[in-house]
Amino acid sequence: MTDRSPFETDMLTLTRYVMEKGRQAKGTGELTQLLNSMLTAIKAISSAVRKAGLAHLYGIAGSVNVTGDEVKKLDVLSNSLVINMLQSSYSTCVLVSEENKDAIITAKEKRGKYVVCFDPLDGSSNMTTSEDEPSEKDALQCGRNIVAAGYALYGSATLVALSTGQGVDLFMLDPALGEFVLVEKDVKIKKKGKIYSLNEGYAKYFDAATTEYVQKKKFPEDGSAPYGARYVGSMVADVHRTLVYGGIFLYPANQKSPKGKLRLLYECNPVAYIIEQAGGLATTGTQPVLDVKPEAIHQRVPLILGSPEDVQEYLTCVQKNQAGS
Ligand code: F6P
Repeated sequence: MTDRSPFETDMLTLTRYVMEKGRQAKGTGELTQLLNSMLTAIKAISSAVRKAGLAHLYGIAGSVNVTGDEVKKLDVLSNSLVINMLQSSYSTCVLVSEENKDAIITAKEKRGKYVVCFDPLDGSSNMTTSEDEPSEKDALQCGRNIVAAGYALYGSATLVALSTGQGVDLFMLDPALGEFVLVEKDVKIKKKGKIYSLNEGYAKYFDAATTEYVQKKKFPEDGSAPYGARYVGSMVADVHRTLVYGGIFLYPANQKSPKGKLRLLYECNPVAYIIEQAGGLATTGTQPVLDVKPEAIHQRVPLILGSPEDVQEYLTCVQKNQAGS
């Protein structure tokens, strides 16, 4: 018997998509090189995640990262992969990683024009910089300067969400091809969802606005059904669910973490960019995340993002509680 199932002969791979976008933007090809190198790193990490048990990659590497989290072997490996791939793409000048206390300056002979901020197992974002000798200061730009951002989700399948400023597209790694293939184009978030997502274990430390908002989700005043609660505790997974199903994700400031927990440059900015590009909102509670002017590369900010009507309702609670205090 012959296999007569249709075989795709013109699939839109992420490599092809990145090249096409680069051509349309009449760019120099540097961003294309950068994104392709990042994809190679993601494929290698995806393979490492799958082999982690076998290759003894689970376990503690013996140090803590600047966030204070324990650095696992997989994190160390992912960090080296991303750094090596990005530096050999000849398109970067400054790299900011969650795993490195200081910014990494690319050697002169390998330099390009992009600043890349990433958490090797979370987000990634890229920004252009000045003509001067590159330094850490180049990374202290607000998120509005981002030219591309995305994240990879490693699970039963490996997914990449990417935006170069014209909406958000989703790609899935086809293991047979070793290529990411477009699965959803120009994803838009729902105007309003039915899920709220935050670590409710910290309820004791919540501020008045968060307490009021969560109460409203559980006991809606208009008689509508309460929201469902979901919290993975891994930001990319929680943000991705919010993008796909709608609703709200919150890691607000609280008494124990007065500035929130998540890092602006490589955690909040990339996902804020993706959510805005999908028609949602991402705020610190006082301003859009992408408008925050960074003062330090590992700076934390509160993060509240998701469907526009849900985030707006949270902001109404913030304003009400400010007026009342
Ligand atoms: O910043 C690291 C991280 O693991 C995020 O991915 C996640 O959203 C958050 O911390 C979870 O923090 P907590 O355990 O305080 O809810």
